[in-house]
Amino acid sequence: MLLNYSDDGPGPAVILLHGFPLDHTIWDYQRGSIGSTYRVICPDLRGHGETAAPEGIYTIDGMADDVIELLDALGLVQPLVLGGLSMGGYVALSIAERFPHRLRGLMLFNTRAGADTPETARVREDLAQIVESSGSVAAVAETMVPKLLAPSTRDRRPDLVEKVGAMVTRTVPRAVAGALRGMAIRPDRTGVLPSLRLPTLVMAGADDLLIPLDESRRMAAAIPGASLVVVPDAGHLAPLENPAVADEAILQFLGSIGG
Ligand code: MLT
Repeated sequence: MLLNYSDDGPGPAVILLHGFPLDHTIWDYQRGSIGSTYRVICPDLRGHGETAAPEGIYTIDGMADDVIELLDALGLVQPLVLGGLSMGGYVALSIAERFPHRLRGLMLFNTRAGADTPETARVREDLAQIVESSGSVAAVAETMVPKLLAPSTRDRRPDLVEKVGAMVTRTVPRAVAGALRGMAIRPDRTGVLPSLRLPTLVMAGADDLLIPLDESRRMAAAIPGASLVVVPDAGHLAPLENPAVADEAILQFLGSIGG
């Protein structure tokens, strides 16, 4: 499926994938900062942002295939750097496992390699059914928005609270249900981590309420040669909440792998 995307800047390509249920505008800071040196391409994943929202389950591998289709459509055949945040990280890991020849670097932001527990999968299904039967994503906005941003961000940055809330509520119920069901059946990719042969940056938010810091530490330790950056004053959306620290780490990583 053809994805909507932004495309900014000159230089080697860097693809950034957003989380659930958000869109490519979570990368607005990076489009300006990283985009002064690199070509930063930020797709809207299936059902999110301006991309069409078909019926059905949005599997992680299916969303990864959409991204590969976009790269092909853009003629980006040389290996590039791919980053993904949370659900976007699940998609990035799918690409790293199944299309390693397309990548020369990987950035995993606020994400995990493991699958859902049966309990999490059940909660997702309940939420999908509420969203479908009510025809409204209000339940997801209520559940998720308070968990996406660090308490300090919520206090300091009402503009970000509003921006994130607006992104969530713009996402249509069909897409929210499709992505919830896709995440619930995603494979456990923990076993893939030791076989990755890609320079990798793992980024965590010091105050991420959804991904415990220890889990990010374990993920970074399992990937050969990966580095871990813990962003202070940031929760689950570290590059949006503390772009100064996040961008410095991203630029240093990109500089270290050349291009
Ligand atoms: C996200 O930010 O993409 C979600 O928290 C991912 C998830 O629900 O597993």
